[in-house]
Amino acid sequence: MCSIVGCIGVKHSREVVLSGLSRLEYRGYDSAGFACYDEDRKQVLTIRAVGGVADLRLAMQERSYDAQGLIGIGHTRWSTHGAVTEYNAHPVSDCTQRVFIVQNGTLENDAVLRAELAASGHRFSSQTDSELIAHCYEAALQVITEQGKKISRGQLSQMMQNVLHRLQGTYAFILLLEDIPDTLLIARQRLPLCIGFGENVAYVASDILACAGLVERVLFLPDRTYAIVQKDNVQLFAWDGSELAVSIERIAVSWDESGMRGHPHYMLKEIYEQSDVIRTLAYYGPTDVSDLVGRNISLIDETVIRMVGCGASAHAAYLAQPFFENLVSIPSNVFIATDMRERPLFEQAGSWALVLSQSGETADVLESVRLMKERGMCILGITNVVTSALAREADDTLLMRAGVEVAVASTKSVVAHIALLYLLAHEIAYRRHKITHMVKDQAAHNLAQLADVIAQHLVLQKDALLRIAHSLALLPHMFVIGRAVGYAVAREIALKLKEIAYIFAEACPAGELKHGPLALIDADMYVIVCSSIDETAYRKLIINVQQIKSRHGKIVSLVYEGQHELQVLSDDYVIVPVPQDPLLAHVVMISMAQYMIYHTAALLGRSIDKPRNLAKSVTVE
Ligand code: G6P
Repeated sequence: MCSIVGCIGVKHSREVVLSGLSRLEYRGYDSAGFACYDEDRKQVLTIRAVGGVADLRLAMQERSYDAQGLIGIGHTRWSTHGAVTEYNAHPVSDCTQRVFIVQNGTLENDAVLRAELAASGHRFSSQTDSELIAHCYEAALQVITEQGKKISRGQLSQMMQNVLHRLQGTYAFILLLEDIPDTLLIARQRLPLCIGFGENVAYVASDILACAGLVERVLFLPDRTYAIVQKDNVQLFAWDGSELAVSIERIAVSWDESGMRGHPHYMLKEIYEQSDVIRTLAYYGPTDVSDLVGRNISLIDETVIRMVGCGASAHAAYLAQPFFENLVSIPSNVFIATDMRERPLFEQAGSWALVLSQSGETADVLESVRLMKERGMCILGITNVVTSALAREADDTLLMRAGVEVAVASTKSVVAHIALLYLLAHEIAYRRHKITHMVKDQAAHNLAQLADVIAQHLVLQKDALLRIAHSLALLPHMFVIGRAVGYAVAREIALKLKEIAYIFAEACPAGELKHGPLALIDADMYVIVCSSIDETAYRKLIINVQQIKSRHGKIVSLVYEGQHELQVLSDDYVIVPVPQDPLLAHVVMISMAQYMIYHTAALLGRSIDKPRNLAKSVTVE
């Protein structure tokens, strides 16, 4: 799930490609590379480096790479085939060093292709599947050039078709051929690719964000298409070679250059931005949600709420379950998108699924959308990115209005998901006559008050949160427990501890401890307890905590105000304030926990915004 960027027609393609790539580093950042056609030397010059775009720039300086070029391609990698090394970084090339490719995706028939190509004499200089594509083109080009004529467009299109039929998998790529330095060849199957058009300039990228501010006319390539791109011309083809009409959309995408605004990391900035995000949704959300339900009346009659997502977005779905169950009195199920294909779908055609994805580009999420659409289901996308594949493929969309989220670990988008689902539950409950107009209107006020509580208490509880962060930073592992929605909080805490602090943390339903995990409790084991606002759940949680204490386990609690018994039982605790609507209490807990874990990771000197092995947008399955 790498990012690919290309441009053609600008004077200095290098800077354009590099700045585009750095905006797309959310898709992967373990290595990076660039290639352009150098007019003076009449050849394509490549440079690659382990690390992100900053490391690539450094390598350019150190190795005096000065090529600019009217045509260039670049890549940031999240490794799937082959270790993180310079020779596996893209662009990769063929035996003749005349075909250069940057690819995002995974070939499923790579072993077969590698064997076929090796048998016909090709030699490989990387372990990547992308290099195999370059060799396929090398072979195809050889056939054309043997005929000795200038390569025609018809031949290019035929060559694309021939090679694409050899490739199985999900991919998007850009090809730069040294013999045709005024043309980029591009193709996509499943993974996103778009072309932005300027004045005699064309940009190709995995995400339009790469050329935000530079273009307003964009072509989002339809699935299974390929294109021949020149600075002032594009020809688009279906897989069978038939030419397609180019449908250009007018989109103004801006890029927030505001940076970290004085914070040491984007994650901290984004945690602090949560209050503003909730306030924005308190203002715009009720109308957005009411209009959406008005347009899709069948949403009101759903007898079960189905939510789908991955990672923290799936966690947001778990955290929102109580809204539907308490306000609408209907069950809600959460499906992890990664597993959908392996499970039978019993849903009726016409029933809705709420698909949560900050980026709107997560491959597993998009695959689940396609699967559900094949069954005739309706998709409500909840996303932060208006131009995303999810926004385009869903039947209707709710936008988070959260602003760009840069840090890999989702924070403000988690609370944005929850806030939107809170409003949606109120809207459906109202239309089903479960709550009055007054209660529905109160939802926005509750969110606004929640925003204030979060903002105040990140300041008021700062010392307690930092103190606990110091303790956690010393631990090799821990449990995180809670009951019902408290367990949903525990899961999100355990995920964040692993993701950014690299601490092994296992979430466990508090009541399940006695069915196995208690065997691991001794004086060295710490357990983070996520309290419950519900009195019955709280009483039972106390019993579970006693079970840990009697085995000498250490307790660190996130405890709601007024819960003295749990405070007394805890080795350390932080008090979580209860907002006006207690249904939102766990959102305050989540936000405080994110802050605590951020500081744990900071104390450990972790790469917080770009944790090892991860990426913001996971565009591979
Ligand atoms: C990646 C990110 C997570 C995110 C998940 C789902 O794993 O690192 O922070 O929660 O993808 O992303 P989405 O964009 O679909 O919400």
